[in-house]
Amino acid sequence: MMANRLGSAGWAELERGLGLGAADYITARVYADDQTIGICSACADALGQPLPDFFFDFGVYWVEFAASGPYRGVMQSTGTTLAEMLANLDRMHNTIRQAMPQAQTPLFALVEDRGDSLIIDYRSPREGLEPLVSGLLTGLLDYFGEQGSVTRLQEHDGRRFHIQLGRGQA
Ligand code: HEM
Repeated sequence: MMANRLGSAGWAELERGLGLGAADYITARVYADDQTIGICSACADALGQPLPDFFFDFGVYWVEFAASGPYRGVMQSTGTTLAEMLANLDRMHNTIRQAMPQAQTPLFALVEDRGDSLIIDYRSPREGLEPLVSGLLTGLLDYFGEQGSVTRLQEHDGRRFHIQLGRGQA
C-alpha cells in the first residue's frame, strides 16, 4: 500500500528511516504492538494523514490484499455473503491463530441482521483501532460488490457498527 502511495523510492526512504529491511517482513511473525503502531504512525505522517484516516485506508486495502493474495482461499471459505462473513470472522481468526498462536485477534458479534441493515459489535483489548474496523467493513462491502455505508455508533463503547446496504440504490 505504501509503495503504491509513495512510489517505491519514497517507501524505500521511509523504510530506511524506520530501520526496516526485507528481513523484517516475515510471514506469520507476530510484531509487538508498539512497533506496529510506530510504523503506522510514520506511514500516516509520510502520507500527511491523521493516524485514524490511515487505519481506515489500511482496512480497505487489507481486504483487497487478502482477497487477491495468499489469503484468498481463507476469505472465500469464510463467507459467500457479507452477513455470513461477519458471522464467521471469529471462526476464521481462530483458525489463523492455530498457525500464529501469539496473534491477538479481535472478537466480532453480528448482533442484528435485517437483511439490508446489519449491526456488528467489535471487542479487543487494543484501543484506537475502530477506524481500522470501519475500513475493513467498508472493504468487505466492496469485496461482496455491495453498495452501502458503514457507521460507527456510540453504543457499546463506540465499538458497535451499523452497515446499511443500499441494494439497488444509486
Ligand atoms: C483472510 C483474511 C484475514 C486474516 C488472515 C486475518 C488475520 C489477522 C491476524 C493474524 C490478526 C492479529 C494481528 C496480531 O495480533 O498481530 C488480525 C487482527 C485483526 N483482524 Fe483480521 N484477518 C483477516 C481478515 C479480517 C477481516 C475481514 C476483518 C474484518 C472486520 C478483520 C478484523 C481484524 C481486526 C480489527 C484486527 C485487529 C486486532 C484487534 O482489534 O485487536 N480481519 N487479523
